[in-house]
Amino acid sequence: MAILLPGGAGYIGSHTAVELLNDNKEIVIIDNFSNSNPSVLDKIKKITGKDFKFYEIDYTNREELEKVFKENKIDSVMNFAGYKAVGESVQKPIEYYYNNVCGALILLDVMRKYGCKKFIFSSSATVYGNPEIIPITEDCKVGGTTNPYGTTKLYIEQILKDLYTSDNEWSIGILRYFNPVGSHESGLIGEEPQGIPNNLMPYIVRVANKQLEELSVFGNDYDTPDGTGVRDYIHIVDLAKGHLKMLEKLNNENNGLFIYNLGTGTGYSVLDMINAFEKSTGETVKYKIAPRRPGDIATCYADPTKAKNELNWKAEKGIEDMCKDSWNYIVKNK
Ligand code: UFG
Repeated sequence: MAILLPGGAGYIGSHTAVELLNDNKEIVIIDNFSNSNPSVLDKIKKITGKDFKFYEIDYTNREELEKVFKENKIDSVMNFAGYKAVGESVQKPIEYYYNNVCGALILLDVMRKYGCKKFIFSSSATVYGNPEIIPITEDCKVGGTTNPYGTTKLYIEQILKDLYTSDNEWSIGILRYFNPVGSHESGLIGEEPQGIPNNLMPYIVRVANKQLEELSVFGNDYDTPDGTGVRDYIHIVDLAKGHLKMLEKLNNENNGLFIYNLGTGTGYSVLDMINAFEKSTGETVKYKIAPRRPGDIATCYADPTKAKNELNWKAEKGIEDMCKDSWNYIVKNK
């Protein structure tokens, strides 16, 4: 029995693939390389010493997707094949709704046809909008997303809840990621944003690496200890391991729909991140204070207690590992 990973060549998918293979799981990856590189596949094999099947297809192509289900015994699916750039989603709402929402529907429909009803969904803390309470628990109200990307996550969560209501033979895990950073310790796989990065850590490493001139700190007048935005940064390997724990739960329970925050429970400001990066790597990050970025909130960090109690999962890696590993990837791939 194999686990299907649409988008398995991407940042989160590739790290999860490594952890699954290290745990002797059989996986099948499908990817159209819209935001990833074919070389990642060999790197996953190099890190793990394990092989897996790969199909270069678009997961919204029902015919090709069905072929994968016909040719393999797929038992569960972890879907990483979503578009994820907040700013781009504002410019390209049709593409985002089509790829993320229609893609998920096609995938779920094909899964149902082939009797595969175990699904893990990559959701995001963005579904909480401007959170009611901090730290954020899973029962906080969702909604109030400020961009199409975030709304796709919200819609897919709702689709999954409705699907489970209609047929409780499904086993569904919704994982709400906070801010994934870092890379595998080998430095072979990591985050490769196309063009100028939107996210903080990829920007920091490129400034330190002199690929970008200086970092703009978006606002220093938020209601936070130093005025800059506070987020829950989580090491990508910890995040990947959360998927294995989620799968274990779905395999152990007969069915159900489960929702977990994957975060550390600690919030760091933008200035904290710059300082931590400089301290852990010895590099300098040139920055200036700039106006607030539209759509940003002041503070967002998780209460990760539910995942700890029910999945026996907890983030192990701290801010120093996150910074060092992000930098290591850039240095090794210069
Ligand atoms: N920031 C800067 N300068 C930059 C980039 C970011 O100051 O060049 C600041 C932001 O204002 C924010 C913090 O760094 O305070 C983190 O910003 P990111 O863009 O790295 O992350 P966000 O929290 O805005 O968004 C991320 C993901 C989304 C996801 C969300 C969930 O990008 O996909 O977390 O909380 F939805």
